[in-house]
Amino acid sequence: MMNKTFYIETYGCQMNFADSEVVNSILMSQGMLPVQSAEEADVIFVNTCSIRENAESRVWNRLKEFRSLKKSRGDLMVGVLGCMAERVREQIIDKEKLVDIVVGPDAYRDIPNLLAEVEDGRKAVNVLLSLEETYADISPVRTSGNGVTAFVSIMRGCDNMCAFCVVPFTRGRERSRPLESILREIDELNHQDYKEVTLLGQNVNSYKFENIDFTHLMDEASSLYPEMRFRFSSPHPKDFPEPLLHLIAERPNLCSYIHIPAQSGSSSMLERMKRPYTREQYLVLIDKMRAIIPGVSLSTDIIAGFCDETEQEHLDTMSLMHAVEYDLAYMFAYSERERTLAQRKYEDNVPEKVKKRRLTEIIRQQMSIQEKNNKKEIGRRHLVLVEGTSKRSDQQLSGRTDTNKIVVFDREKYLKGDYVEVEITDSTSATLIGTPVEKSSIARFYSVPAYA
Ligand code: SAH
Ligand code: SF4
Ligand code: F3S
Repeated sequence: MMNKTFYIETYGCQMNFADSEVVNSILMSQGMLPVQSAEEADVIFVNTCSIRENAESRVWNRLKEFRSLKKSRGDLMVGVLGCMAERVREQIIDKEKLVDIVVGPDAYRDIPNLLAEVEDGRKAVNVLLSLEETYADISPVRTSGNGVTAFVSIMRGCDNMCAFCVVPFTRGRERSRPLESILREIDELNHQDYKEVTLLGQNVNSYKFENIDFTHLMDEASSLYPEMRFRFSSPHPKDFPEPLLHLIAERPNLCSYIHIPAQSGSSSMLERMKRPYTREQYLVLIDKMRAIIPGVSLSTDIIAGFCDETEQEHLDTMSLMHAVEYDLAYMFAYSERERTLAQRKYEDNVPEKVKKRRLTEIIRQQMSIQEKNNKKEIGRRHLVLVEGTSKRSDQQLSGRTDTNKIVVFDREKYLKGDYVEVEITDSTSATLIGTPVEKSSIARFYSVPAYA
């Protein structure tokens, strides 16, 4: 495989993007070279997502495009990685003849062998899930991205079995990565001048390696690297550790932003979803977050139109979102997935039209909440970590606040990777506009009250 070029196209969640960086590392250690487009590559990989029907259809369409590319270039290899691998391997290899290689999320170390099998004229598949694999010893290679912010996987799989969700089936059992391998990766990022790390897992608050829990991990990372910022995604509302809230409140480099997916605002719906908390318990947790971390920014995931959803349950979701006033929300129409509890035991019986209407109502309300929340930011000062040039103008920079809001401001003398104190002057529902005040450090900024 020496000198062959490869291209990885990634769909799905941040975990999948982090996995593609692990695959980069595995391929490059074989002497293969990453390229920036599918057209230039000898091997194209698609790292896939199964979370909703439309995520899968995008991948299928893309694979069909690659099939025509294969027709004009006999030696081109196409591989499917990630969450769709197990479910569709037969379809992919036998019936549709779309791809040569199928590799599940726990089998990436096997890719070099699989490529060799394909060179011998065979179709190669490994979709075995593992109880141990965490790729702990592999240093991910970040070929795309901004060079300032990075994702670090701290665990794999999920044992929660929410009734709607396919992840436990595509990614297997939950397992945590050893603390020292996580800290080693953060140290490498620090040496490469990265400034922000988001620790990733499908349920980060169940991180447990030997006697180290998630709060302990955050404590270690943030005290070892005081000029790096730390975020995490996603925690589960059912067992959110209170000591972590206190730690976030007192550590300037633990970001005051928590993504805390509710899924629904109705207790009866949450029960059907197998989310083991009630609306009331969720709201108590939110109050606790706000009391312990003043100014904390919150975001959520919401599903509209899950099985048997009544109009009242939908209104309960609307009222929960209205009560919490999230700064950001990822909102989806329910999409039935094979093998899940919902697919086996419930009926996907909310008509498509009703799902769409409810989703639209949810999104519309959320946009107006965000607009209102962002207006309140005008006049405040935030510490912004510059991630790069703004999409709209190269005279402007773009970065994020500690509270995860995007801020655009004039470039002046500032550079990518700088922490800049910015005063907010204007806003939309998605972006803040500001004026830079001065370059700063995390510690210095925090001697000034952020919410003055
Ligand atoms: N582990 C993460 C979620 C990963 S999936 C967590 O629990 O926070 C991201 C989001 O996709 C979920 O939070 C849920 O809102 C949504 N989702 C999952 N399965 C879905 C389905 N079948 N239909 C629609 N949305 C779904
Ligand atoms: Fe899916 Fe629930 Fe696990 Fe999140 S916690 S990945 S929604 S099963
Ligand atoms: Fe998709 Fe798999 Fe992530 S299903 S959301 S890529 S865990």
